[in-house]
Amino acid sequence: MDKPNPERTEVLKLVAVTNQKGGAGKTTTTMNLAAIAAENSRVLVVDVDPQQSTTWWASTADDTLPFDFAANTDASMLGRLRDLPFDVIFVDTPGNLTDSKILASVLSVADFAIIPTEPEALCIPPMVRTIRTLVEPSGTPYRVLLSKIDMRVPGQLDDAEALIDSLNLPRFNRPIRKYKVHADAPIEGKVVTQYAESRQTAKAIDDYRAVALELMTIWAHAGAA
Ligand SMILES: Nc1ncnc2c1ncn2[C@@H]1O[C@H](COP(=O)(O)OP(=O)(O)OP(=O)(O)O)[C@@H](O)[C@H]1O
Ligand SMILES: [Mg+2]
Repeated sequence: MDKPNPERTEVLKLVAVTNQKGGAGKTTTTMNLAAIAAENSRVLVVDVDPQQSTTWWASTADDTLPFDFAANTDASMLGRLRDLPFDVIFVDTPGNLTDSKILASVLSVADFAIIPTEPEALCIPPMVRTIRTLVEPSGTPYRVLLSKIDMRVPGQLDDAEALIDSLNLPRFNRPIRKYKVHADAPIEGKVVTQYAESRQTAKAIDDYRAVALELMTIWAHAGAA
């Protein structure tokens, strides 16, 4: 499979959300960034995870998702999705070591990779492994996204940021904080843009909006380069 040519990537971005460490926040990030992108763009979410979490979430949403959705997709077919009329395609990928082939397939056609990670020190080595063995060899630009940050834990965010920075890994400036509303969202079939308004949900929504903005800025610079 070929990487897209540069002219193509200005109109279509295939974004892999990936980390072979389970439970890192891939599915939550995929669904919520897709929802925000869908406010201004034609968005497709693709599930290549045999675990099918995104598909389950989409089924609880029952036609109310603000983007199109492709379940149970063969990763080797992803390149063909570029011919469909979407501006952005987010691909949710499996969180384990046994599905490395699927991940390699996705990364071979991806324009960008988002690597969500939990902040705990023990979650970092498996993430670094995914980056060093699959993401970097594929040549796909990427950013680490600190997720599930518990602001009640003193120093958690600072320590995690310092650790990522000490490894020279590029990261989003904005972390995603841990909120119950995110954990409840799949069962309620909701994405951030559909959360009921409250002070608590405003903060939860704002994190993903800030990350979406950073992503757009990265793309704008890549397009201008
Ligand atoms: N910011 C957050 N705040 C609260 N809960 C969160 C947040 N992000 C994710 N979660 C919860 O953490 C769990 C793991 O998240 P998620 O399913 O998005 O991770 P994943 O990387 O896709 O996992 P897997 O590797 O199993 O596919 C889920 O129960 C999810 O609801
Ligand atoms: Mg998942």
